[in-house]
Amino acid sequence: MTDYAGRLRLGVNIDHVATLRNARGGDLPDPVRAAQLAEEAGADGITAHLREDRRHIIDSDIDRLMETLRVPLNFEMAATEEMQKIALRHKPHAVCIVPEKREERTTEGGLEVAREENKLAGYIAPLREAGCRVSIFIGADERQITAAHRIGAQVIELHTGAYCDAHAEGDFETRDRELEMMREMSAYAHSLGLEVHAGHGLNYDTVTPVAAFPEVVELNIGHFLIGESVFRGLGPAMAEMRRLMDDARA
Ligand code: PXP
Repeated sequence: MTDYAGRLRLGVNIDHVATLRNARGGDLPDPVRAAQLAEEAGADGITAHLREDRRHIIDSDIDRLMETLRVPLNFEMAATEEMQKIALRHKPHAVCIVPEKREERTTEGGLEVAREENKLAGYIAPLREAGCRVSIFIGADERQITAAHRIGAQVIELHTGAYCDAHAEGDFETRDRELEMMREMSAYAHSLGLEVHAGHGLNYDTVTPVAAFPEVVELNIGHFLIGESVFRGLGPAMAEMRRLMDDARA
């Protein structure tokens, strides 16, 4: 069962340091350096998404992260044969399976697990056998969470994007409804024995209510933190997020 009372973990997603690098070609800024700085500033883990089109993180970033990181790597990937091979070669601490569409700007929704149960169960089995914790990026939907549990995932990561978008648009009715669904579904997932994470689109304005869910043990935050670090540096940007997370929990 999940460590229910422990400190909420902050996973820092470094994809968008690579976005900036790739905008110019070349090696700078280096996402692996960002990961090391995040680690020094107290990140509990590093998240990186190797997309099929390699639009930000590239294969050699994963090689170097695996060689240099001391905190766990949460390797995000689509459920493809190619990505399974890469994950099995590296055996990262965690593998987070996400849906991926080439035309999307970012991961738009949670994974469809219920309709693909058999296929996904077979897909994640070797990853589990290799010692990776398998996480499924998922909407706050009881049917999908039940299916994630049935296929043998150990972790779900709740997609907070719709909640964050509604907040940004000032649609507080939708925001509060999304939040309520996530609150209920994090309790439900925990009752099944799943570890619960959350992430996508979180910032200083939206993190507090999600961090307050007692069943959530990890938040994965990237785009906002990397953007904010342009103005105040990665360490101070993370410190403020950390403070908000700890206050929400107190
Ligand atoms: N968690 C998952 C599974 C994601 O796919 C992403 C985005 O890559 C994040 C967390 C972080 O989202 P953001 O960059 O919006 O903070």
